[in-house]
Amino acid sequence: KASFSGRHFLNLSDAGGDAVAAMLADAMDRKAAREGLPKGLPDADAPLGGHVLAMVFEKNSTRTRVSFDIAMRQLGGSAVILDAGTTQLGRGETIADTARVLSRMADAIMLRTDDHAKVEELAHYATVPVINGLTDLSHPCQIMADLQTVLEHGKALPGLEVAWLGDGNNVLNSIVEAAGLMKFNVRIGVPEGYECDQGFISCAEAAGAGISLHRDAASAVAGADVVVTDTWISMGQAHAEAKLKAMEPYQVNEALMAKAKPDALFLHCLPAHRGEEVTDAVIDGPRSVVWDEAENRIHAQKAVLRWAFGQI
Ligand code: CP
Ligand code: NVA
Repeated sequence: KASFSGRHFLNLSDAGGDAVAAMLADAMDRKAAREGLPKGLPDADAPLGGHVLAMVFEKNSTRTRVSFDIAMRQLGGSAVILDAGTTQLGRGETIADTARVLSRMADAIMLRTDDHAKVEELAHYATVPVINGLTDLSHPCQIMADLQTVLEHGKALPGLEVAWLGDGNNVLNSIVEAAGLMKFNVRIGVPEGYECDQGFISCAEAAGAGISLHRDAASAVAGADVVVTDTWISMGQAHAEAKLKAMEPYQVNEALMAKAKPDALFLHCLPAHRGEEVTDAVIDGPRSVVWDEAENRIHAQKAVLRWAFGQI
C-alpha cells in the first residue's frame, strides 16, 4: 500500500483554528491578487500545476462542483467530475476499492454523499487527500466561504454573534464547529425536534464558544451581527408538511432582520427556497451577501486544496 501524503479535510477541526485562519488569509490574498482576470486563467504561481482532483457526487450540486473545478484550474490543475450514479460505485463497487483506484489516478478526491461514515471510509483507504464536499453531518467547505465573506465585510470572528434560523442541519453543525475554533457565538433558533448535533455543540462550548438555543426566532436574532439560514428540507430528507409547518415562525423576513444589528449581514449557502426560509426582500436586500458568499466558494476552496497538499 502506498503511504498517505497530504491532509484530509472532513471537518474543520481536521485543520484547527490556526490553519483555518491561515487558509482564510490565503483565500483573501489570492482573490485580491487575481481581481479582474478571466476566471479560468491560472494564478501566476499555479501552485497545484499538473494536479488532478477527482470529485464524486452522490447528491446534486451547482456551487460545489463548479467552484472546485474552477478552483483547480486557477491553481494550475484540473478536475474530473463523477456522478456516482454513472460510476461503478453506483453499481456496488466498494468505497474502499474506489478509494484505492482514485488514489492511483488522481492527486486528491472530493466526495459529496449522505452518510458521513462514507467520507471517513474513503479517507481511510485513500492515499491522497480526501475533502468532504457535504455529508448529512457537515459542510466544512461552505463554512470556509462563509467565514471569508464575514471577514471581507469588515467583521472580526472572535466575539461575533451569529444567529441561525430554521433547521438544525449539516451547515449549522459546521458553523457550530467553526464557532469553537474561531471563538464566536451561535444563537440557534430552531423548533423542537430539529436541533443540530450535540457533539459539535459540546466541542464548541468546551473551546469557549457561546452556543444558545432559542425557540423564539426574534430572541435568536436580537443583536446578531450575522443572520444565517438554509433550506428547511435538505437533500435526501422527505418533504414533510409537519416539518415545513414547524419551520414557518423561523422564516428570515424583513421584520425578523430588523431585530438584528442595523449592519447585520445575511448569509445563505444556497440554493434558496424563496418564500420559505427567506423572503425575496431579505435575500435581494441591502444586508444580503449571498452572491459574495457563493463566489467565495472558489477562493476558500483553493485555500483548502493548498492546505490539503501541505502548502498552507
Ligand atoms: N452551497 C452548496 O453547497 O451548493 P451546491 O449544493 O449547489 O453545491
Ligand atoms: N442543507 C443543505 C445544504 C445544501 C448545500 C442540504 O444538505 O441539502
